[in-house]
Amino acid sequence: SDLCAQGRAQGQRVFIRADLNVPQDDSGAITEDTRIRASVPCIRLALDAGAAVMVTSHLGRPVEGEFKPEDSLAPVATRLAELLGQPVRLVAHWVDGGFDVKPGEVVLLENCRLNVGEKKNKPELAAKLGKLCDIFVHDAFGTAHRAEGTTYGIAETAPIACAGPLLAAEMDAIAAALQNPKRPLIAIVAGSKVSTKLTILQSLAKNVDGLIVGGGIANTFMLAAGLKIGKSLAEPDLVGEAKAVIDAMAARGAAVPIPTDVVTAKAFAADAPATVKKASEVADDDLILDIGPETAALLAQQLKAAGTIVWNGPVGVFEFAAFENGTQVLAQAIADSSAFSIAGGGDTLAAIAKYGIEKDVGYISTGGGAFLEVLEGKTLPAFEVLARRAG
Ligand code: 3PG
Repeated sequence: SDLCAQGRAQGQRVFIRADLNVPQDDSGAITEDTRIRASVPCIRLALDAGAAVMVTSHLGRPVEGEFKPEDSLAPVATRLAELLGQPVRLVAHWVDGGFDVKPGEVVLLENCRLNVGEKKNKPELAAKLGKLCDIFVHDAFGTAHRAEGTTYGIAETAPIACAGPLLAAEMDAIAAALQNPKRPLIAIVAGSKVSTKLTILQSLAKNVDGLIVGGGIANTFMLAAGLKIGKSLAEPDLVGEAKAVIDAMAARGAAVPIPTDVVTAKAFAADAPATVKKASEVADDDLILDIGPETAALLAQQLKAAGTIVWNGPVGVFEFAAFENGTQVLAQAIADSSAFSIAGGGDTLAAIAKYGIEKDVGYISTGGGAFLEVLEGKTLPAFEVLARRAG
């Protein structure tokens, strides 16, 4: 954006890597377009600066070199054109150039993962990508954790490489939440498995004032606290790791609240009868599918008093009405809290949409895996390479 402000993008070929990897239904229709809408400010900035604009993204995980119609960005081109209010031409087989784009025009370069060498960031591909543009703009936060041809290789070979406004805004929001947060800082980390989020839990345990766990993750923490969880989803092998997280928090005077009540069922089904129980009374054939109302109310109080909230993951099976109370109560508490809140991850975004609290969350990340890696404390490849280019 600085380059645009300085007038250096005028008449230049600007190559924008966006993350337009959006969900589609069986007919190919886009079911959720947040990422496309989030790509618009960068494209507009380049257009307004007088650039000839090329945009690309991956869509799904196609087999390199094997084009199938369902891998096409065609539906994305249509939606992008609507949002920009100007035509967006889709260009196939673009790696060797040979297509035309004039200042003020936008072309969408077909699914970049169809190009041989993209996933593994092969130098031959990176060299070609670099020749396509004068300025490379990385604005794909959702893919910033991948070191691929269009997210990493081109950042090394393009004459100029810089971050776009979305990438910058995402990192600023995460930095505001984690680096110098208004305290208390409370994180919600929920999901089915401790194993997939263990590094995040360990990293947050060094920083947050409260760590709310949910889903299968909470079940493993309940085991660590000596509670029985019946047939509930959990990873008994990781009880030691869960204990270590609880101890690390306790050593800092912080806590991982363990549910005092839960909602159970005998089967994982939308119509399974739900029973609220004390956490100490879970039976051998019970499945825990949500936190109980007493736990939800207590956690909601903590969230309302927070200075900063980081949210990743629904705390129960919120897709089923009988087991959504915990997630809904916490979502409402986040919405009502004056804390700066940041949320990310597909299920979390679905919960935010279900409870209509989009406007009440401070920042909603477009990243799934990328958001999680930042919470782990990792430096994303996109940032490493852009920082190196910036010298
Ligand atoms: C995502 O949806 O998380 C990103 O677009 C990255 O996709 P990937 O996991 O296929 O690299």
